[in-house]
Amino acid sequence: MADNFTTDDAGIPVPSDEISLTVGPDGPILLHDAYLIEKMAAFNRERVPERQPHAKGGGAFGEFEVTADVSAYTYADVFQPGRKTRMLARFSTVAGERGSPDTWRDPRGFALKFYTRQGNFDMVGNNTPIFFVRDPMKFQDFIRSQKRRADNNLRDHDMQWDFWTLSPESAHQVTWLMGDRGIPRTWRHMNGYSSHTYQWVNRDGEKFWVKYHFKTDQGIEFFTQDEGDQMASMDTDYHVRDLWEAIERGEYPSWTLSMQIMPFEDAKTYRFNPFDLTKVWPHGDYPLVEVGRMTLNRNPSDYHTEIEQAAFEPSNAVPGTGPSPDKMLLGRWFSYPDAHRHRIGTNYKELPVNSASETTTRSYSKDGQLRHHNPGDPVYVPNSKGGPHADPAAVGPAAGWHSDGEMVRAAYTLRRDDDDWGQAGTMVRDVLDDAARTRLVDNIVGHLLNGVTEPVLMRAFEYWRNVDKDLGDRVEAGVRAKADEVDPKAAGQANPARTSAQRKA
Ligand code: NDP
Ligand code: HEM
Repeated sequence: MADNFTTDDAGIPVPSDEISLTVGPDGPILLHDAYLIEKMAAFNRERVPERQPHAKGGGAFGEFEVTADVSAYTYADVFQPGRKTRMLARFSTVAGERGSPDTWRDPRGFALKFYTRQGNFDMVGNNTPIFFVRDPMKFQDFIRSQKRRADNNLRDHDMQWDFWTLSPESAHQVTWLMGDRGIPRTWRHMNGYSSHTYQWVNRDGEKFWVKYHFKTDQGIEFFTQDEGDQMASMDTDYHVRDLWEAIERGEYPSWTLSMQIMPFEDAKTYRFNPFDLTKVWPHGDYPLVEVGRMTLNRNPSDYHTEIEQAAFEPSNAVPGTGPSPDKMLLGRWFSYPDAHRHRIGTNYKELPVNSASETTTRSYSKDGQLRHHNPGDPVYVPNSKGGPHADPAAVGPAAGWHSDGEMVRAAYTLRRDDDDWGQAGTMVRDVLDDAARTRLVDNIVGHLLNGVTEPVLMRAFEYWRNVDKDLGDRVEAGVRAKADEVDPKAAGQANPARTSAQRKA
């Protein structure tokens, strides 16, 4: 275009970018300066509400390529041999607000959207293979305990440890969080896990339980607590910047997807509940099966429309995939579309970043705010007017499982190896080396010294002893020694962590 004149949002040329319409140069502003009003009004409406959890994040586009043959386990198009699928990834912290530092200790979100020929497939995971709670009824309380108090609007470690120590199922995830992987060096240097068990089904209708593991090809790297703290004050957007700059340099980060695959019948007799989100499946029982590679190779051109308004939801499950009886996952199936209708708007799936660009949507959804996709008539079904009609045979075998019982409010039925502490203890004793164990102790001690009071503190020592006796003893000794250093009068007292002393520490 030869001319590059500013217009308003209706395309009408504007007479000035900088000067409002007034009665004389020194007179009052006129209400019918529609362009001024449009600028002010658009500005006032620029923000959509930030995500409740996972508000701070960043992302990029890329491609997923299948490098192996897993067609025996799923007929999902995105996982067929040789298939390449365009995709989007968004990484995030959980508890901080949109402007919060990237290097605070927190799990990291690992949300993926695959634009497949069967519609959009989302894998909304974290950089940890487990989670803090196993019933969706507790998720809201968990997140609130990580966010801000009602009275002073401050985050509060006492509140966090109060919740954790009253929720022993959190132990495995808290061990992970307090360890090295609680502050990834960059998003490029962390793994992504579905955490949940999902279902795959093949062309013959044979069903499998699966877990997704996206392992970083860059290698795992982390920041120590001190490095993370320093970076938080130097560059709050360190992870956003790192991903952006790596892609601009042409250093495209990649992750190899491998699956753990459990035959359908195994789940009934496995030694612990394989749908419990607080547990991993040991690799020795279910080894990783390679599937393909995801590579991020294109930065967004507009963060608002492509990242902030991106809507990831576990319920975007394409044929050949599906949920499992994991209660958390089933809770999430509802929660995400609900959040998106509120956060972005009823027709959020019409936005280019969320729309199923590799297929044609033929839904009977109609109208609503900002709808622009013309559904055309007929607007109802069944109809004899040539409108789309469902064809279960064309979809293929459905994922699912048998369920028949009384309606109850009951925790999962316990099996032989179901307990809250065992896998956390295995990580501490068998996975971490001495140096990593010492960093774990130091991280826990530092966290506890930051405002945790009785009786929560004593419960925290017990919590860690339940994970591993030696670890718990070291944590208690560390807290007492540091509190005494700061306030010698506290030496030997039953409650060493008096708040003023801790804060100075
Ligand atoms: P393995 O020895 O086969 O697996 C241990 C895994 O621990 C590694 O493969 C690695 O996962 C992960 N890991 C290594 N260092 C750390 C660290 N500093 N912080 C967190 N995770 C780390 O044993 P099992 O499969 O029997 O699992 C033993 C324990 O390992 C589990 O109780 C669990 O705590 C932890 N774990 C298990 C995973 C699984 O899916 N089985 C996954 C991750 C951890 P990765 O290869 O994914 O990087
Ligand atoms: C974001 C709910 C558990 C990973 C969100 C959002 C909600 C939510 C409402 C904000 C969505 C938005 O506004 O776009 C829940 C509920 C859970 C749960 C109710 C449990 C019952 C989990 C678990 C994981 C997870 C177990 C990982 C395995 C994520 C990620 C995001 C997110 C990665 C950010 C997605 C993005 O980048 O847009 N969650 N969540 N959540 N959640 Fe969960």
